[in-house]
Amino acid sequence: MDYKKYIAEKIKVGGVSAEEIASSIALPPNSQMGDYALPCFRFAKVLRKSPAVIAEELAKTIPADGVISEVSAVNGYLNFKINKAGLAREVLAEISQKGEKYGSSDIGAGRTICIDYSSVNIAKPFHIGHLSTTVLGSALYKIFNFLGYKAVGINHLGDYGTQFGKLISAYKRWGNREEVEKGGIHAINDLYVRFNNEADEDMEKEAREYFRLIESGDKEANDLFEWFKKLTLEYVKKIYDRLDVHFDSYAGERFYTDKMGPVIDELKEKGLLKESNGAQIVDLEPYGMPPCLILRSDGASLYATRDIAAAIYRKKTYDFYKCLYVVAYQQNLHFRQFFKVLELMGKEWAKDLVHVAYGMVSLEDGAMSTRKGKVVWLEDVISKCVEKAYAVVSEKNPDLENKDEIAEKVGIGAVIFGALYNNKIKDITFSYDKVLSFEGETSVYVQYTCARAASVLEKACDYAAVLPEELNPTDEEFEVVKALAVFPETVLDAADKYEPSYIARYAVDLAQKFNKFYFDCKILTAEAGVKDFRLELTKATLRTLENALALLGIGVPDKM
Ligand code: ARG
Repeated sequence: MDYKKYIAEKIKVGGVSAEEIASSIALPPNSQMGDYALPCFRFAKVLRKSPAVIAEELAKTIPADGVISEVSAVNGYLNFKINKAGLAREVLAEISQKGEKYGSSDIGAGRTICIDYSSVNIAKPFHIGHLSTTVLGSALYKIFNFLGYKAVGINHLGDYGTQFGKLISAYKRWGNREEVEKGGIHAINDLYVRFNNEADEDMEKEAREYFRLIESGDKEANDLFEWFKKLTLEYVKKIYDRLDVHFDSYAGERFYTDKMGPVIDELKEKGLLKESNGAQIVDLEPYGMPPCLILRSDGASLYATRDIAAAIYRKKTYDFYKCLYVVAYQQNLHFRQFFKVLELMGKEWAKDLVHVAYGMVSLEDGAMSTRKGKVVWLEDVISKCVEKAYAVVSEKNPDLENKDEIAEKVGIGAVIFGALYNNKIKDITFSYDKVLSFEGETSVYVQYTCARAASVLEKACDYAAVLPEELNPTDEEFEVVKALAVFPETVLDAADKYEPSYIARYAVDLAQKFNKFYFDCKILTAEAGVKDFRLELTKATLRTLENALALLGIGVPDKM
């Protein structure tokens, strides 16, 4: 049952819908006040009375019933206590019935959401800067699917540009097939860096010529390019597998080569294209933005041109309800510009394009400078985290079996959770010690709580999964019940705001409440009926934590 809705329907304020009221109902931070609270300030204007008086008067009109056990008015707030046993029974039944589907819904049925994320650059390092887009995008992908949408994961590969001409030139000078096969993306990157360090006029000219050869369909140049692409994708796919990240399409920038012509024609037809110093632009001055560059003076297309073509293609192919771009805030202007161009082209769906911007990730030791050639590869961050997880886990429990498997789950979880825990727009500093702490607001803490719950359940073996006739939840138990109850709305909020961090925070909050309950209430030695209830609560917590972590791409070890 939706308690907020239930309460809202009892409250009659002229002109305000039950839905609006339900959305104002909050969970008070101090549960002594009540389980739900409705601030009455917003009714003051309509009713022409003070919030305190409104709350007093409304309180009298709502009788206690089987669901609401007490209504009181305090300082302009209407506070509700609800029937604890009723809520407990209901939530536990729902979790046990829905299992791994608890928290899901079909609210998105029939709607497709395109999510452009990770979008790696071929032959360039897959570095820590790609961490957020990869794990944020992947979490959104899972969250939207969980809510019944059809999510389409798109890796908009950076596989277009003069750098590939440089790479071919470097390879022909210094490379050989065996070494590159063996060294993979690292060998390719070395060639590229060497080219940039040593290139003179002639080499630059040669690179431009090779790029032109790729463009004109030259076989040798294209074979080399495809080979570099294959090596890059093989490399990143291994990382995606470890992070449980999936894509439905790898249509990259190059894919739009033959789709830009019609876009340029359309821009011309609609009178949007202007010449400026030989280049073709869309003037965005009336909207307070620099012009959007469509064609360079040499006729070459740009990043924005390909994004415009890609958006049109996606609308045609997927008929999306929304198309999300999970890309760092550094590209804010780029997205505002090409969204505007599409709007000016008369695409009414341009309003459904969303730039999901996020902040920077840096490492504690400050090592994230591409200019100095000091790139932190994401693979190395993951390996280091898993290695440290092994040490941390072994120290806590030296007798564990399958330590490797557990360390993988704990280490990967820490990388993902570390990147997702904060509001996405915040710049974050990644610290191995912090993300691997058993104490803090970490995935390790949540995973450990799961292992604790699992171990209680294992010891209980055969208990009756029937709740007793008399149910009188203690405060600690009821805090867990309430936290369990808000998981579905947390998932909805996370989707609504494109904030997987809500789910990460939720998991920590539920784990904390469970641990308080675990330490304050004995479970296995409690009297029969109480014990059954506590075990059910433990089982429901484990299920819900697992569901929450799964949405973030994090697995839960059986033991820790
Ligand atoms: N490859 C780009 C980069 O690394 C990100 C692409 C984002 N997606 C897009 N449709 N522009 O900066």
